[in-house]
Amino acid sequence: MRILLVDDNETNLALLSKLVAKLPGCIAVPFNKPEDVLAAMPALDFDIAIIDFLMPVYSGIELLTEIVRFDVYRDKPVVFVTADTDTSTRMAALNAGAIDFLTKPVHPLEFQARMRNLVALVDARNKLADKAEWLRVEVEKAVAELREREEEIIDRLTIAASYKDEDTARHTRRVAAYSEAIARAYGLDARSCHDIRLAAPMHDIGKVAIPDAVLLKSGRLTEQEFAMMQRHTLVGNDILRESKSGLLQLAAEIAGSHHERWDGQGYPFRLAGDAIPLAGRIVAIADNFDALTTARPYKEAWSLERTVDHIRARAGSQFDPTCVSAFDAALLAIVSIMAADAEAVSEPPAPSSFSYAESDPGKCVRKSA
Ligand SMILES: [Fe+2]
Ligand SMILES: [Fe+2]
Repeated sequence: MRILLVDDNETNLALLSKLVAKLPGCIAVPFNKPEDVLAAMPALDFDIAIIDFLMPVYSGIELLTEIVRFDVYRDKPVVFVTADTDTSTRMAALNAGAIDFLTKPVHPLEFQARMRNLVALVDARNKLADKAEWLRVEVEKAVAELREREEEIIDRLTIAASYKDEDTARHTRRVAAYSEAIARAYGLDARSCHDIRLAAPMHDIGKVAIPDAVLLKSGRLTEQEFAMMQRHTLVGNDILRESKSGLLQLAAEIAGSHHERWDGQGYPFRLAGDAIPLAGRIVAIADNFDALTTARPYKEAWSLERTVDHIRARAGSQFDPTCVSAFDAALLAIVSIMAADAEAVSEPPAPSSFSYAESDPGKCVRKSA
């Protein structure tokens, strides 16, 4: 343990240093000028300070007042050495933050007795602080591990769902990335955006329960088949909602609400407006955008421009208008996600007659011709 000693009298300083050396596990850090102590802060390392009460330039109290300005020293115990037995002097020292006094001339036995107690106290406190820090680090590690496992479960579930058909796997990956871009433009914090990206790939997980004859049908669905298809929202919600994981609960919310409409005409519950969870409203746009810009067994891929017009025209009816504004603001990011995905499977991106104004890269403008 390091004991800071400050005394302008060299003889007293030498005596205090000798006494500290006799305390088990303690080393003296001596200074004969208070101004040198201040110059060494905040790098100066000590556990206890023993300060002479009367010194030139800075008195003991003035020095202590300066020391405690630094957060790192605020809890360090300070003992004053004084020949003054006057109560008002001692009260002033206590008010400044001193915890004990040594009377000048310092008696070696009194010094040993008082300092041993103080050293034991500080030692116990340091150990407790170390333990608290160790616990904090362990809890942080456990939380990170738990989060990693949650993310792995989501990955594995998404992989499981992708065995149904490879197109669905790519669709879910793109929808996740689009949703994150929209969430960011909407103004959600980084953690929520990341959570939406992780949870969104499971929006169609309920399709595992839809017969292949319906799911992979290349023609139009009959009314009955469409009703079957709609069940993927309820099944997805059922699969995920009982989980204690916040991420899986978010995924359940998205699975159950990504086909609801802002005007209440969606499914499965015909929720309207803010009653639809925000993550569901965001994924609804990402999901539609992806469905329209990619070829399906029953339709060609729409151009980017036609798709954007379609989504903008449905702000306030099918989609949350605020989310559509966020989608607009995120368009540049969305187009690069699209292009990167097309490149990964060496497919040309959806035909587009859009370009980007250099002065305002967030805005999409129509090419002149
Ligand atoms: Fe869906
Ligand atoms: Fe989907």
